[in-house]
Amino acid sequence: MKITIIGAGNMGGAIACGLAQGSRVNPCDITCADCSDATLEKLRLKYPAIRTTLNNREAVKEADMVVIAVKPWLTEDVLHEIKSELDYRRQIVVSIVAGVTFEQLTGFLEKEQEEPPALFRLIPNTAVSVQNSMTFISAQGASQEQTDAVVSIFSELGATMLVAERLMAAGTALASCGIAYAFRYIRAAMEGGVELGFYPEQAKDIVLQTLKGAVALLQAGGAHPEAEIDRVSTPGGITIRGLNEMEQAGFTSAVIRGLKASCN
Ligand SMILES: NC(=O)c1ccc[n+]([C@@H]2O[C@H](COP(=O)([O-])OP(=O)(O)OC[C@H]3O[C@@H](n4cnc5c(N)ncnc54)[C@H](OP(=O)(O)O)[C@@H]3O)[C@@H](O)[C@H]2O)c1
Repeated sequence: MKITIIGAGNMGGAIACGLAQGSRVNPCDITCADCSDATLEKLRLKYPAIRTTLNNREAVKEADMVVIAVKPWLTEDVLHEIKSELDYRRQIVVSIVAGVTFEQLTGFLEKEQEEPPALFRLIPNTAVSVQNSMTFISAQGASQEQTDAVVSIFSELGATMLVAERLMAAGTALASCGIAYAFRYIRAAMEGGVELGFYPEQAKDIVLQTLKGAVALLQAGGAHPEAEIDRVSTPGGITIRGLNEMEQAGFTSAVIRGLKASCN
């Protein structure tokens, strides 16, 4: 499978690097196009086998899959630029652009008397750079075989979930914005740890290992988090005292309000 990525910035570059490290796509079958040669040079230094170009139209000609990874406001221009080079019966178009709908993408790609191509919307998060993304995938006009291929390729970059388009905004809030919320919890816990007497680096290691343990427990047992909380909360003990203090300060409602604000 030949893959072209238009926009080799944070996400496009990370996807290219992740795929180059995996086993599903040969690095020499990956082409990255960007308007900045400095950005492409960084990629070439890491993965010399990846092909790079400043020419979007040239980049898409040979591709089986074209990944659009530019900022939302550039999507229309980029799709207008490349659409005359695209063969809609053969090529798959994958957009990782947050907030641009299938309806808009179909409009940007409209050609007279041609059905739109198989389209995918993909929302990864920044952990794609360490092959640990939570990636939401939605399909329009794609065959089962094309859907399986996209899911299989992006599963190399972390966990994937195939969802209806109506859930893309919620998925973005929960996982793409959500990774920032997880970092904010880590920072808050580190600051607490420093106040309790640890150096910042020690506090960071402690918090990260504690989170790793929490994730491992939930993944191994499949339990609800509240069941694990019950196991650690001695009646009248220090854990429930801490939890109740956090809830008094609005912990659960702050998280839910933040997620809902990100989804608007
Ligand atoms: N960051 C996230 O967590 C996240 C999660 C899910 C989805 N997304 C989506 O991913 C997309 C990319 O985000 P990003 O953070 O990777 O942005 P980014 O770092 O700015 O990357 C976009 C790249 O595209 C290049 N570019 C601009 N115009 C171009 C053109 N006409 N042709 C080819 N390349 C062009 C930019 O070059 P210059 O910098 O030189 O302009 C830049 O290198 C966005 O639409 C965003 O919604 C991001």
